[in-house]
Parts: sequence; C-alpha cells; structure tokens
Amino acid sequence: MRMPSSQFVFRWTLTSATLAALTLMAGCRQDMQNEPKMVPQRESTFFASGRSVRPQALGTVSRGQLDADTYFHSGLIDNQEQDKMPFPVTMDVLLRGQERFNIYCAPCHSRVGNGRGMIVERGYKPAGNFQEALILNKPISHYFVVMTKGYGAMPDYAAQLPAKDRWAVAAYIRALQLSQHATIQDVPQGTNIQTLAEVSQQMGYAPDFPQEWVLPEMTNVPGAGEMKTDVTSQKRAMPGTTQNAPKNNRPKKLKK
Ligand code: HEC
Repeated sequence: MRMPSSQFVFRWTLTSATLAALTLMAGCRQDMQNEPKMVPQRESTFFASGRSVRPQALGTVSRGQLDADTYFHSGLIDNQEQDKMPFPVTMDVLLRGQERFNIYCAPCHSRVGNGRGMIVERGYKPAGNFQEALILNKPISHYFVVMTKGYGAMPDYAAQLPAKDRWAVAAYIRALQLSQHATIQDVPQGTNIQTLAEVSQQMGYAPDFPQEWVLPEMTNVPGAGEMKTDVTSQKRAMPGTTQNAPKNNRPKKLKK
C-alpha cells in the first residue's frame, strides 16, 4: 500500500523525535547505569592490550598475603626446622588440633598416631608412627613442614589446613607423644596419681584393659599390599579417588 506523502513525513518526524528523545534519555542514564569504571576482567578499548586490568608489578601481594619468609608460614628459620611454636599453645589450640587431626590424619596415622589407620590397613604405604624415635625426636616444625609440603607417599595438607591449623595439629602430635612417654616428673606436684588398673576398675572397664595392648594383625583384605610398591608414582592421588580406581570400577556409559 502506498502512503500519502504528508502522513509519511509526519511519521518520519515522529520516529526521529522519539529516537532523539531516547538517545538523550540514554545519555542522562549513562553515569548511573554505565559507570565509567572497569570491573575486574572487563575488556577495554583504552589500552592496546585490550585489558582493563593493568599487569601488576612483579612481586606484588595484597595486604595480609605477604606470608613469605616468616616462621609461622614456612616452619623454617634459615632453612632449618625449629623446635618451637610460633604462638602459645592453649587448651583451645590442642582441642582444635585434635579435631583436625582426627579428620585429616587419623585415616592413615590412626587416632593414636601409630601409623595404623584404616587406609594403611587396606594396603596404603605404612604411615609414620609418631612414637618411633626417628619421628618423635624431630623438632615440632618438622610436622608442620610435612603437612605443608607432603612427605614421600604422604600428600600435603596445605589446601585443607590453613597454617594456624597445621600448627595446632603439630602441637597435638606432641600431646599424643607425651601420652605414651610421660614420666612422673611431668605430673604437677600434689596431684593424686592413680594406676591405670585402679582407674580401669573404677570405670568398670574390661579386666584386661590396663594390660599392654596388642595390636591386631593387619587386616590383609584381598588385594591389600598390591599397590604398596609404587605409591609415589601415582601422582599422589588419595586412595579411592577415581584417578586411582581400577578401570572396571568406572561407571559404564549408558546405551541409548
Ligand atoms: C593418605 C594417608 C595419609 C594421611 C591422610 C596423612 N599421612 Fe602422614 N604419612 C603417610 C605416609 C604413607 C607416610 C610415610 C611417608 C613415606 O615414608 O614415604 C607419612 C608420614 C608422616 C610423618 C613422618 C614424616 C617423617 O619424618 O618420617 C608425619 C609427621 C606425618 N605423616 C604427619 C601427618 C599429619 C599431621 C597428617 C594430617 C594432616 C597426615 N600425616 C596425614 C600417609 C598419610
């Protein structure tokens, strides 16, 4: 259909006026709606690289992130492990350490730290026994460093445990060690000392409770020990992750 020319001109004028108005309104809104700022990672035509974010000067760290070179974060002074805590050990610190230890370390080291946790019973490389002289005599920051960097077949726990928790766990390892190596001198003077037999009787425990505990033989489930030989080459994957799972354990693809 052909439009009469006067009507056409009228419509054209109306459209241009509306467009102009819209443009003006958009202009008014610009400061509020599109603030002239760059949100992180937004592209920019201003810089030749097309990036709005400027490259940081080499070695830049943000506030609170400068954790290089301090004993609290490295467990080392002059590259040497030390037998001291970077903060005082209170009962709260020990309780926190106990909780974290039982979550993250007990599966391999067992709750008493003898290295006979369930994962080891099922065939993982024997984990360290904290009562053995070699480990017992290490300075406390050795345990912190082991958790921070891993040790042989043991994966590191830096991602799961922030530095403060790693120290708390290290302190708790010392408590576990003391539980097996305490002498009468470690008991404050004037404390009423009872024998284990007396305590056990009062508590109504089994008659053999105060006797020396004998650890049961390793469970030796079928297949345990097979993976013992070459744990380190398994890219430090935890047992039971899909990375380690035998191929035939992977879920089969569904047929359509
Ligand atoms: C997946 C099992 C596993 C877990 C979980 C584990 N460890 Fe270990 N750990 C090992 C193994 C295996 C070794 C022995 C490593 C080796 O000799 O190759 C070891 C050794 C150690 C040692 C002795 C290092 C030495 O000087 O001989 C310490 C200390 C230790 N672990 C602390 C911890 C702490 C603390 C945790 C919890 C944050 C933990 N481990 C969690 C498996 C584990």
